[in-house]
Amino acid sequence: MNNVTSFRNKKIILGVSGSIAAYKAVELLRLLVRQDASVHVVMSTNAAKFVTPLTFEALSGNPVYHQVYNTSSTMFMEHIRLVESADLLLVAPATAGIIGKMANGIADDPLSNLFISYKGHIIVAPAMNDDMYANFAVKENIKKMKGRGVVFIEPKEGELACGSIGQGRLAEPLDLMDAVKIKLNLINDCYELRVLVTAGPTQEPLDPVRFITNRSSGKMGYAVADAARDRGAKVTLISGPTNLQVPEGVRLISCRTASEMNDQVLQIVSNYDVLIMSAAVGDFAPKQIEKEKIKKNGDNALTLKLFPTEDVLKNIKARKTRQFIVGFAAESENLIQSALDKLLTKNLDLIVANDISSPGIGFQSDSNQVTFINKDGDIKKLPLLLKTEIANLLLDDIINSI
Ligand code: CTP
Repeated sequence: MNNVTSFRNKKIILGVSGSIAAYKAVELLRLLVRQDASVHVVMSTNAAKFVTPLTFEALSGNPVYHQVYNTSSTMFMEHIRLVESADLLLVAPATAGIIGKMANGIADDPLSNLFISYKGHIIVAPAMNDDMYANFAVKENIKKMKGRGVVFIEPKEGELACGSIGQGRLAEPLDLMDAVKIKLNLINDCYELRVLVTAGPTQEPLDPVRFITNRSSGKMGYAVADAARDRGAKVTLISGPTNLQVPEGVRLISCRTASEMNDQVLQIVSNYDVLIMSAAVGDFAPKQIEKEKIKKNGDNALTLKLFPTEDVLKNIKARKTRQFIVGFAAESENLIQSALDKLLTKNLDLIVANDISSPGIGFQSDSNQVTFINKDGDIKKLPLLLKTEIANLLLDDIINSI
């Protein structure tokens, strides 16, 4: 991740819950304080069984809120003032228990009490046994909180405190720092960069009620638009139909068909420094749309004649000036070779290759496993990551290349 000025004047609440990974919160606190953040630690009742409040108090230089009913504590009722002035609440590590409380509005310890009254940015970094993390209720709780705008930093794969190996290790403190920097807009490395992103599927109507489309949710493109905006870029999103919320501050141009997307992109691409073509543009469409609904004709088959749509990236090829152009390749076989072919034929600077044959990743999902290939032939295979994480790594690569 790129350099950041500092966390000066930023007030962060670090919420620690009762996990063996609480020791990593100590390291995280040290890093934040070293970069001039003002950190107030809030502990769940169980957290104090792993690390003492005194440790956090000594390192943060601030009183620690760890007992709801301790009238002698300087933090008694202080937490209300704290929530009003803090820039961000980071809960790390977050156990299944505290996630359950936060998701369901239960307030029965200092951390869940504070959470319920906090209205600002929230980042949650889970840490738990892999089976617990895979549990349906935990997943549902996380989904619920994500729907309310809470950012989750996925736990990593590896050896867990219980001895098993799986996904459940708290993300590394440096990665958590990066997430905080992004959320607080402290990374401005895309400052004033003009970024054009396409996203979502296209729809090719057959008649007034039917259309051909694909399973793209648009999540990848929206995540890129969101991350680029967070990092200071001026972002325009050309989107096919999706159910997603347009990130604040991002200009939206809606379109439906491949032909409309083609026209919109060609019209404005010359005003941009970067084009990220993450839309799943439909490859075939009928020549003309039937005016009336196509009727059944007894048991006779219906034959549709479809023609290739405009290839947006190929059309841009002829007009490309200085733009850095990123394409995506959704492949079900020969991932790298097919992606390399597209990189060359579409004259791209970078391609994000995505194996759509693997279950549970890609279309519709919040996470994906992709490979970046640049025009020098460098291949970078990434692990399974959240689309928001992929978006930021993609921006890192672009920034380092232009
Ligand atoms: N793309 C495009 N115009 C199209 C189809 C695709 O600009 N009509 C772009 C996509 O946005 C993506 C890249 O081209 O960035 C590759 O898309 P993909 O669907 O993987 O490849 P296609 O070129 O459509 O080839 P195929 O479907 O045969 O693999």
